[in-house]
Amino acid sequence: MIEVKPETPDDWWEVEALYDLCFAPGRTALSSYRLRDDVLPVAGLSLVARDSDGTLAGAIRFWPVHVGDSDALLLGPVAVHPTHQGEGLGGFLIQEGLEAGRESGWARVMLVGDAPYYSRFGFARLDGVEMPPPTNPDRVLGLDLAPGAWAGVSGRVTRWTR
Ligand SMILES: CC(C)(COP(=O)(O)OP(=O)(O)OC[C@H]1O[C@@H](n2cnc3c(N)ncnc32)[C@H](O)[C@@H]1OP(=O)(O)O)[C@@H](O)C(=O)NCCC(=O)NCCS
Repeated sequence: MIEVKPETPDDWWEVEALYDLCFAPGRTALSSYRLRDDVLPVAGLSLVARDSDGTLAGAIRFWPVHVGDSDALLLGPVAVHPTHQGEGLGGFLIQEGLEAGRESGWARVMLVGDAPYYSRFGFARLDGVEMPPPTNPDRVLGLDLAPGAWAGVSGRVTRWTR
């Protein structure tokens, strides 16, 4: 039995430890992390999944970013503990997070990740959206949360300033 709840401040370091376990060393040196420096994740959208004994099984976070003159959610990091991978938990966390984002009024979401995984949720390459270098443009993916929300949106992705 896995229970999914919004992340609380008490979960923070446990989630960081899960990300350290699941990602290659040096993850925080990636350019996407510069968009997260000194910015809090979007309240209510970040989720933790725990198994019946309370062990953290998976987590997802979302940050706000600007793309040109528009606003977007930046999905990630998302990770599932190796003992729970392949059980559908990653997909569940992503779907739940996207639904919460839509309900909160966010129009569009983007991420830097593997297109073969994220295409199953409807993510597709974003042309004209520039992540801080170095980022492979083939890994910059987006999804409309409101119809047509990415149409005409382009430019540099920058750190949230509001
Ligand atoms: C990626 C991750 C979050 C997926 O979570 P999960 O709970 O294992 O995924 P699900 O059970 O929902 O889905 C499993 C499916 O995704 C596929 N998949 C997982 N990672 C993939 C990837 N990087 N590229 C393509 N397919 C991938 C699996 O092959 C499996 O395919 P199938 O449904 O055809 O059998 C998890 O594997 C993980 O934490 N990986 C390490 C951290 C990471 O890479 N995070 C994502 C950053 S881009």
